[in-house]
Amino acid sequence: MQTNDPIHLLMKEHETISSTVEIVRELEFVWQSNPDEYAKSVKSLITFFKDYSDKFHHHKEEDVLFPALKAHPLFSQKEILDELEEHHEMFRDSVKSIERNIEDKKWAESYESLLDYLDKLLDHIAIEDDELFVIADSLFSKDELERIYFQCQDIDQELGLDYKTSLVNQIKSKNYAS
Ligand SMILES: [Fe+2]
Ligand SMILES: [Fe+2]
Repeated sequence: MQTNDPIHLLMKEHETISSTVEIVRELEFVWQSNPDEYAKSVKSLITFFKDYSDKFHHHKEEDVLFPALKAHPLFSQKEILDELEEHHEMFRDSVKSIERNIEDKKWAESYESLLDYLDKLLDHIAIEDDELFVIADSLFSKDELERIYFQCQDIDQELGLDYKTSLVNQIKSKNYAS
């Protein structure tokens, strides 16, 4: 088994991102009884999506994994990478629109956008887990995987490992009230 495995690292991040589904489900209709609490919770989720899902995770894919695949002579499916990068751009726009809905106090709309965003994000994650990562795992040698792993680690370190841990813990504890 690969010790410094970038695919494992990225899949663990996917698990953390996917676990926000439960939190979002529990927020349904909360705006009717407690709009302030709803707004606060969604704002915390927005921070998580911007910083963890996008900065920590999508940038590892865009800056490390995807370029490494593109450079691999046996990788023949560049169109899948274009598609996944387009998704990342779309996700950035979706998060901005959820944020605008919250600022405008359009609670029901914000919730609809949040559900739609998560739905597309989970589909995206499934494509990566079930297709792209399987290809990456089979194409790269042990040494190449290790090099990619350390490049991913560099991104975590640049952005701040303590901050990353605090984002994960926030999701784990669902502690948005504090
Ligand atoms: Fe992705
Ligand atoms: Fe991903």
